Amino acid sequence: MPQFQVFVTRRLPMALDRLQEIAKVEVWPERQPPPYEVLLEKVKAIDGLLCLLTDRIDRQLLETGTALKVISQMAVGYDNIDISAASARGIPVGHTPGVLTDATADFTWALLMAAARRIVEADKFTRALQWQTWEPDLLLGADLVGATLGIVGLGRIGQAVARRASGFNMRILYASRHQCDRQLETSLGVEFAEFDRLLSESDFVTIHTPFSADTYHLFSDRQFELMKPTAILINTSRGGIVDPDALHRALSSGQIAAAAIDVTEPEPIPTDSPLLGLDNLIIAPHIASASRQTRQKMAQMAIDNLIAGLQGDRLPHCVNPEVDR
Ligand code: GLV
Repeated sequence: MPQFQVFVTRRLPMALDRLQEIAKVEVWPERQPPPYEVLLEKVKAIDGLLCLLTDRIDRQLLETGTALKVISQMAVGYDNIDISAASARGIPVGHTPGVLTDATADFTWALLMAAARRIVEADKFTRALQWQTWEPDLLLGADLVGATLGIVGLGRIGQAVARRASGFNMRILYASRHQCDRQLETSLGVEFAEFDRLLSESDFVTIHTPFSADTYHLFSDRQFELMKPTAILINTSRGGIVDPDALHRALSSGQIAAAAIDVTEPEPIPTDSPLLGLDNLIIAPHIASASRQTRQKMAQMAIDNLIAGLQGDRLPHCVNPEVDR
């Protein structure tokens, strides 16, 4: 007989049978996330919450959920959750690291190559029936071979991006709070650089650092001014790391050549955002981890974390292990 009450904030790409053996599960059926007020009401009566990065899990919500034993987020990032408030209430928070590393690194490269070789512009050009002949200077892009790749944040995903660069014979710089050990640097073929040096020397800059108060608008006017006019920026991390107004200024003035982003601030991108009018910007709707296999693994991992938390076991992947028994 189910003993626990669980709320899942969206339909998942995975059957919930295992969870249903121990819990009465309510799944929010809409395409849009549950409004905050709904979440606030639901949380009063549940033992476990399975949420997504679109759900705001703040102090008020955590204090309202007096029976909450566990929060399990189906994402690696958890900047939407007030972790210190969860810890203060002794609630472990699960997330899904590792399983989405390769899919995200692959998508980063898809964006990087699409921006370098102007694939989205080329597709639009062709469909607009503008292709009249082979032209020596039609839609010229940038070479990858021999270029410098700057990786901001060398965690799991940054490392996977670096590994994929080896086939392109690129020079790779990375900026990070801490320099990695020499063995890892050698195996990845990367060189540590101060952030400003990375910006001024890189042809491609790709962001893989978590979003926090420290990285809010890490890319603003000053950073774009340091970058080469031929540089291309890729962001598959979180939108808030890049100031959207500064990005617009940099792209429209030619301060940098192009950008390709999977994340925006806010999400979804506002319908009147001037970024939508730029040809030298590719915008994807936060889908870097969206391969069928990866999303299933993420759902599985989120369910495993939730079940462990309900049963009073340690979460396999916990963000705040200090409260996990
Ligand atoms: C996606 O952005 C995630 O954090 O998993």
